[in-house]
Amino acid sequence: MNLNVLVLPGDGIGTEVTREAVRVLRRVAEKFHHQLSIAEGLLGGVAIHKTGQPLPDETARLALEADATLMGAVGLPEFDNWPPEKRPEKGLLAIRKLLGVYANLRPVRAYRALLDSSPLKNELVEGADLIIVRELTGGLYYGTPRGIEGQGADERGFNTMVYTRPEIERIARMAFTLARGRRRRVTSVDKSNVLEVSQLWRRVVSEVAAEFPDVTLDHLLVDNCAMQLILNPRRFDVVVMENMFGDILSDEASVLAGSIGMLPSASLGDKRPSGAWTGLYEPVHGSAPDIAGQDRANPLAAIGSVAAMLEYSFGLAEEAAAVNRAIETVLNSGHVTADLRPAGKPATTTEVGKAVCEAI
Ligand code: IPM
Ligand code: MG
Repeated sequence: MNLNVLVLPGDGIGTEVTREAVRVLRRVAEKFHHQLSIAEGLLGGVAIHKTGQPLPDETARLALEADATLMGAVGLPEFDNWPPEKRPEKGLLAIRKLLGVYANLRPVRAYRALLDSSPLKNELVEGADLIIVRELTGGLYYGTPRGIEGQGADERGFNTMVYTRPEIERIARMAFTLARGRRRRVTSVDKSNVLEVSQLWRRVVSEVAAEFPDVTLDHLLVDNCAMQLILNPRRFDVVVMENMFGDILSDEASVLAGSIGMLPSASLGDKRPSGAWTGLYEPVHGSAPDIAGQDRANPLAAIGSVAAMLEYSFGLAEEAAAVNRAIETVLNSGHVTADLRPAGKPATTTEVGKAVCEAI
């Protein structure tokens, strides 16, 4: 198969983890005899430095041409006081919108080898295996009107959380469809005791549920969900929610996996005529400027995102499984990066990437 992949390393540890993810992708292509062609582009702070834009036109063009895009992370402290429209993060939000990747799949698993890496009690975390389905191109992140206006005591800031019925329907269908390949249970998260947008969300998700009589649906308020994720994580299978709730709860859920450095993600849009998904693949973690350039970051979230790319955008289930098995082999070896609190000397980013390649 021909795999045309655009790589956007981005900022901070993004460049280090994508380097290892690409190493793994090359290894898979070699072992399973695929033609790999990789283009590289600018996104985020590095793009602002080189072109003045967080998502340069050239990157947008490359992303529309590629079969799939692999991203590192964006964000640099020097832009901390810049307005949202000009920041590195704007590049990420713009490319999600450009590609129309409305469904962000964030699987969270408590690996056996990592039970001691989580600050939570082992018996609580053991066996947790859930997937957050985060709506990615709507809600507060994109809603208008938005802004800051007025002066002095009249100054006010505002954003809009808005969802249309079709936006809710398609993300709900994605969640129910995924549940069919898992334990057939969907939890929909909202704040319907306060927000009208959540009342519509709950009603539409319940309607879509009728199309999937073999899947069980329950609803949780977002504050309660935040608590249940820690108290009783095994109760969850597929958890679907709007954009910002998903941003927050996925960082929280990463504690179950031992480190946010373990969480891959797949952002999917519509299926292409070939049957493959339009996909943007990115680790859930950020650019971590505090440890950037030190070969210390955990590349497994980025490598797991490669597995997701092989599965969803290329339909290569066997190759994806080989990558995921290799990740487990490395975890079982105990030679892992510092975020996972290994017993011995922590492994470097490069060592983990190479170990995954060897295990493939
Ligand atoms: C994430 C990140 C991004 C988000 C930031 C970097 C804009 O936190 O992917 O979870 O909020 O979506
Ligand atoms: Mg986030």
